[in-house]
Amino acid sequence: MAIRDVLKMGDPRLLEPARPVEDFASLELAHLFVDMHDTMRSLNGAGLAAPQIGVGLQVVIFGVDLNPRYPDAESVPFTVLINPVLTPLSDAMEEGWEGCLSVPGMRGLVPRHTALRYQGFDAAGQPIDRSVSDFHARVVQHEVDHLRGILYPMRIRDLRYFGFTETLFPGQNLQDD
Ligand code: NI
Repeated sequence: MAIRDVLKMGDPRLLEPARPVEDFASLELAHLFVDMHDTMRSLNGAGLAAPQIGVGLQVVIFGVDLNPRYPDAESVPFTVLINPVLTPLSDAMEEGWEGCLSVPGMRGLVPRHTALRYQGFDAAGQPIDRSVSDFHARVVQHEVDHLRGILYPMRIRDLRYFGFTETLFPGQNLQDD
């Protein structure tokens, strides 16, 4: 299919709430999954939400392979998540560094729920119901925020912890999202 342009922060389409998917069998939706996958992989991202390529539907994809250069990073299974509902499993929050393909070259320290349950549907329209924690939970919260028109800089509590990746983490060659 196609690698699509990723909208950058400042584009008003990134601030609009996305609509739920109603027709799970449409050809447009099948093409959207492929385009999102191709786009995320081409940019070496950890996740992508449909509004980031200008499609206002409640579809996110994410997935992180184990990388020998970052032995502490957890793997997250590749997932297509449609019409997601998030339920925090406790009040515990944790600060962690995030980036975003719509905010290229930057990182910020963002509070997220440490553990949550997420429900929704996969690419075949089958239910997904998972309880996850830590990095997996962070990735899901970041991507689902895109469906609500929220970009991670809007959640940074202390803007002293927002800056350019190569300055914050010199020599680490971090991926963008
Ligand atoms: Ni993002």
